Amino acid sequence: MSLLELRDVTRSFGGVTAVDRCSFSVGAGSLTGLIGPNGAGKTTVFNLIAGAIKPDRGDILLAGRALGRLRPHRIARLGLSRTFQITRALDELTVLENVVLQRRWESPKRRSRWPRISRTASSDFSRSPAR
Ligand SMILES: Nc1ncnc2c1ncn2[C@@H]1O[C@H](COP(=O)(O)OP(=O)(O)OP(=O)(O)O)[C@@H](O)[C@H]1O
Ligand SMILES: [Mg+2]
Repeated sequence: MSLLELRDVTRSFGGVTAVDRCSFSVGAGSLTGLIGPNGAGKTTVFNLIAGAIKPDRGDILLAGRALGRLRPHRIARLGLSRTFQITRALDELTVLENVVLQRRWESPKRRSRWPRISRTASSDFSRSPAR
C-alpha cells in the first residue's frame, strides 16, 4: 500500500484549473520530487495534501485512509505535515520554544520524547529569542 496517494485530484480557482486530475503515489521510505514550470500547480498540490485547501474532485489518501474534509491540524496528528518555502519563526519566543511549539501537534507517544529534547537543547543558543 502507498503511504500517500492522490487520485484524480482537481482544484480550480475561478476560471483557473490549477490542478487537473492529478494522480500519483508515494511509497513509504521513498524520496519523491514534484517538478514543473512556474504556475504548474506544485504549491497547490502541497496545499491540498496538507489540507490547507480541499480538492473540488478526487481523493487524497494517507496510508489508505481518505483525508476527506480533515483540517490541517488533524492531518498533522496523523503524521503528515509540511514545511514552507519561506520559513518563519515566532520572533518573541526562544529557539527552543519554537521547536517545542510545532511538536505540540505530534501524537502523545512522540510527545513523550520532549524531555529528551529539552535536555539536549540546553545550550544558551536554544534559550535566545529566535529573531
Ligand atoms: N489562492 C489562489 N487563488 C487564485 N489562483 C491561484 C491560487 N493559488 C494558486 N493559483 C493559481 O493556480 C496556478 C498554480 O499555482 P501554484 O502556485 O500552485 O504553481 P507553482 O507550480 O507552485 O508555481 P511556482 O513554481 O511559481 O511556485 C497559477 O495559475 C496560480 O495563479
Ligand atoms: Mg510554488
